[in-house]
Amino acid sequence: MLKPTTDPSVTTGLSEAIEFLLPALEDFMRFEDQDLAASEHAKWFSSLNEALPRRGRGAEPTLRVLRDVVIPCGLRIGAPGFAGWVTTMPTVVPTAAALAASIAGAQRWWVQPFNFLEYLALEWLKELLGLPASYQGTFNSGGSAANLIALAAARQWACEQRGLDASRDGLEALVKPRLYASNQVHHVVSRAAAVLGLGRRAMIQLPTDRGLRLDVDALRDRLRQDKADGCTPIAVIASAGTVNTGAIDPLDDILQVCRDESVWLHVDGAYGGFGILDPEVAPLLRGLAEADSVAVDPHKWLAVPLGCGATFVRDRALLGRALTLEPAEYLEGAASPEERVGSQFDGLGYPFHDFNLEQSARSRGVTVWAALYEMGAEGMRARVRRHNSYARRLAELVEASPVLELLAPVTLSICCFRYVPAQLQGGNGNGKTLNSLNREILRRLHREHHHIPSGTEINGQFAIRACYINPRTTPRDVAGLASSVERIGAETWARFTPGD
Ligand SMILES: Cc1ncc(COP(=O)(O)O)c(C=O)c1O
Repeated sequence: MLKPTTDPSVTTGLSEAIEFLLPALEDFMRFEDQDLAASEHAKWFSSLNEALPRRGRGAEPTLRVLRDVVIPCGLRIGAPGFAGWVTTMPTVVPTAAALAASIAGAQRWWVQPFNFLEYLALEWLKELLGLPASYQGTFNSGGSAANLIALAAARQWACEQRGLDASRDGLEALVKPRLYASNQVHHVVSRAAAVLGLGRRAMIQLPTDRGLRLDVDALRDRLRQDKADGCTPIAVIASAGTVNTGAIDPLDDILQVCRDESVWLHVDGAYGGFGILDPEVAPLLRGLAEADSVAVDPHKWLAVPLGCGATFVRDRALLGRALTLEPAEYLEGAASPEERVGSQFDGLGYPFHDFNLEQSARSRGVTVWAALYEMGAEGMRARVRRHNSYARRLAELVEASPVLELLAPVTLSICCFRYVPAQLQGGNGNGKTLNSLNREILRRLHREHHHIPSGTEINGQFAIRACYINPRTTPRDVAGLASSVERIGAETWARFTPGD
């Protein structure tokens, strides 16, 4: 079938290779099998766990392992009932675009269509999110990198305000840097603080209100106190959709505090930034367009292939000062994308490498362009509204049930609840029993069901957490989850011994 030419790897016959895998991929996408990743773990692990082959096995045997062992045991987060995470399996057209980029856009710079689509997709995202056109955008690998890049800009800004240049001179002269966020902030932000040399302990986690939103008075007090103590505030990080419950911090009020105290406002909208497309949520996200930086993750709600986050920074030049690649002699010919180009070496195109951590990268933006070109703003709006309506519907079902209890307000597409049998209702001191009962219910859901939420803790209470972000989910899956928890809850409780 596929034959190597001058190299031991195959460089022709792409259609054959893909056609070889397609039936297995189509089969996988029907989600009719059980989760083989778990049930067949021993089998696939032993068949894959081989030493480095001295001589290559060849194209067809390699594809056969993919077809027969790897794909069928893949991760089923695209299955309609999967509501566990804020990431999902991509839809088809952006997946095809990623393949196109791997081949025809193997590098996102140079003046070529993939470089332009990177630019265009960032422009479209700004429009979708209501961000000013002047913001500099940059694609990166996901929420972790998107937040890190934004905080690199914040660090540069805070230093420049004090006559320092963090990018050039490092942090030697920076005194007691501090970052502020609610105790619900995503933990990648602490890692960003570590990587940026601020230190994980620079991260001040503040209390939240009853809706699990940053307590603005606590923020103001702490900022003032820290400034009086000689600390250097680097940024306030507001969550636009926490991963736990989907809570949106009060952006307008936080913005006011940041302006009053001259502190950078970064908004982590990795999950919930696209919530702005739902008119019921949009008023909560009005402050987004005033933030100094914003992180969003197209690989979450936009369902493009994983490895696609985006950062937007108000001050383009500042972001450049934080991250620019210095000139190098081998990088000749940095013509602007508008200039006439005669060959592939005539221009670097839009210089995304000057606003990023990566030099070489495939075009991530082409997947976003493809998703938006296919669906339009209206299609994306409909998806976000549908998913938010699923979470609201689940909350209604929970509240109408005598044995289910809602544990957090629903803001976006996340609903957190638990099973509470009649015998444990209204009583104090049942917390531990309810936590272990609900943990067991979740374990059974995962083992026995195609309704797959995740679990979390809210104020010490274990919650079953459904997050609707999967384009394949239907209202039946939503109703199915509520009734499954009721049924499994009753069965589990009937056999439950406290201390389980
Ligand atoms: C609010 C928030 N920020 C950041 C991240 C990190 O994103 P990633 O996993 O793409 O690095 C996540 C992921 O769940 C998130 O929900």
